[in-house]
Amino acid sequence: MIDYILEVMEENFKQCNITGNKFITILMNKKRNFTITGVKNNINSKKVVKGHNKAKNYIIGEGEYVDWMYQLGLMDKNGAILQHKQKKFRQINKFLEMLKDIESEIPENSIIIDMGCGKSYLSFAMYHYFNIIKKRNIEIRGYDLKKDVVDYCNNLSDKFGFKDLKFYCEDIAGIENKDDKISMIISLHACDTATDYAIYHGIRWGCKVMMNVPCCQHELFYQIKNENMDIMLNHGIIKERFASLLTDSIRARIIEIMGYKVHVMEFIDMEHTPKNIMIRSVKTNKKANENLKIELDKLVEEYNVKPTLYNLIFKNN
Ligand SMILES: C[S@@+](CC[C@H](N)C(=O)[O-])C[C@H]1O[C@@H](n2cnc3c(N)ncnc32)[C@H](O)[C@@H]1O
Repeated sequence: MIDYILEVMEENFKQCNITGNKFITILMNKKRNFTITGVKNNINSKKVVKGHNKAKNYIIGEGEYVDWMYQLGLMDKNGAILQHKQKKFRQINKFLEMLKDIESEIPENSIIIDMGCGKSYLSFAMYHYFNIIKKRNIEIRGYDLKKDVVDYCNNLSDKFGFKDLKFYCEDIAGIENKDDKISMIISLHACDTATDYAIYHGIRWGCKVMMNVPCCQHELFYQIKNENMDIMLNHGIIKERFASLLTDSIRARIIEIMGYKVHVMEFIDMEHTPKNIMIRSVKTNKKANENLKIELDKLVEEYNVKPTLYNLIFKNN
């Protein structure tokens, strides 16, 4: 592009002004030498995100001050996203876009559980989306093993008067659906088999929607065996990636067998994180075709694997 600009300038122009998130001026003198001057920030371009050449319409926008985002260390007081939190910011917005597509499935006055919520960016984001932007009544509960983060998030939620946003220091394996009001579960990067427990709960509670972004799928790496696949499985890194994909394919198939429509999609560009698969499932109430289970059994046998979700669902039913 620069070559083109300089070529055009040589023919017709002495000055070129470029406007983006910076103002840049290129000048050409009589000897046809170029200088670049006037590089300064464009204060009107808050919505331009570095690394992209066009402003994106985020659901929770950059440049818009949001108290909880400031307190969780995502933005500064002017609403600008901190450089080292850009990735998290994009994840949050991508998640909300995917949530928006299925939000009509979520009944009023129901509960959403964030399993392994950590610093709870998504719990706050879902609360913001449903209760503030959409003015709906949805309760959000986050569960994590780390007491200090749970306490911190509860303090923040109290401080902002988010009465339907609560956090619990509990193992997700033991959560119960006491009031039968849980309509959705989410898990973002719940490590290894924690994702399986999250999905297992969602299925046995009959949740309408599940959104799971798995990570650290180590379980099958240590089990997988298939002589016909040695060409791939003899290489550690390929075996690791294959085991991850196999884990998520099996999860998706189990969820489908249990009566859900399943979409496996790219959560966030590979460029930003390798943990980029989202399994989004919406309950259909349709009985699954019997062949789905037959094919699954053939696959787990072929690869000699016993995934946690498989055991939880089929051994307990
Ligand atoms: C990688 S962090 C992700 C945190 C958050 N979801 C996010 O994406 O920012 C995984 C979190 O899951 C929590 N966790 C792992 N196993 C858990 C379990 N069995 N019960 C509750 N929380 C768990 C960890 O304490 C940790 O905070």
